[in-house]
Amino acid sequence: MKILGISVSDRKFGNSDLLVKETLLGAKEAGAEVDFIRLTDYKILPCEGCINCVIKKTECIFRDKDDSMKLYRKITEYDGLVLGSPTYILGVPGILKMWLDRGMAYMYGIGRPNSGKPAVAIGVAGVEGWEAFTLPQMATFLLSLGYHIVDQFIAHAQGPGEILLNDKILERAHRAGKSIVEGKDMPYEKVCPSCGQNMFRFVDHNTIECAVCGTKGRFVVKDGLPTVDWFYIERRWGDEDIVEHFEHKILPSVPRFLKNRHKIKELRRKYLDTI
Ligand SMILES: Cc1cc2nc3c(=O)[nH]c(=O)nc-3n(C[C@H](O)[C@H](O)[C@H](O)COP(=O)(O)O)c2cc1C
Repeated sequence: MKILGISVSDRKFGNSDLLVKETLLGAKEAGAEVDFIRLTDYKILPCEGCINCVIKKTECIFRDKDDSMKLYRKITEYDGLVLGSPTYILGVPGILKMWLDRGMAYMYGIGRPNSGKPAVAIGVAGVEGWEAFTLPQMATFLLSLGYHIVDQFIAHAQGPGEILLNDKILERAHRAGKSIVEGKDMPYEKVCPSCGQNMFRFVDHNTIECAVCGTKGRFVVKDGLPTVDWFYIERRWGDEDIVEHFEHKILPSVPRFLKNRHKIKELRRKYLDTI
């Protein structure tokens, strides 16, 4: 079994690097071959929105201009992934989102080569309570590519390497590394009954929706205690659901756009001439 660790931090030997490496040491102890890379060592350009990857079912047409596709090909060579990311302004650094946006080929276009592979997500944050988007964003990256999250957690540390003073979290990372190889899920708290994430938004005063997968629930009182009645389970990131999404929601937009494109060109003239 081969496991790849990716740190999203540019701080060499920073907390994300170290936690990913500790997780890889656990995986190695359990018998895996391991490798480590830092995302910021690669050139990642933004998605230009052409959706050729969806329409033509190919890798991104800018595959030779940066390392995005090279990196997607690389993770496909491994049986599992350990992702470690710092928290920047409540969520992950932009480079992870930019790489994810370039990855629709690996979500749908060329198939889902990483579907079902195990992954661990470790977010690092300097201040407790200032990390709300980090794990949901990391989970979105992993789930959208089909990975199964065997463990996820936030580790708190501010200065580079300070995490080495926290034996408990290092042990957790080490154990997560073992469980990725052993195929065991760690007992992390799963709140959403579909994707396990814990970020919800209110759709109306009484209805909540999982921000990551779209599962819906209502607050009810059962046996005198408040609880959530999950009345709609969404499997947004499942293999069949993703195919259905692209084929029924995205691809039909192409002929619709082509039909209207001359009219749109005409209407946009006003904006070309003015500003
Ligand atoms: C630009 C920037 C923004 C940050 N924003 C947050 C934040 O919103 N919440 C938080 O808890 N920590 C924040 N931090 C602190 C880092 O998450 C923390 O230092 C972490 O240990 C960095 O991980 P690293 O050593 O792997 O780079 C920020 C750090 C930087 C440089």
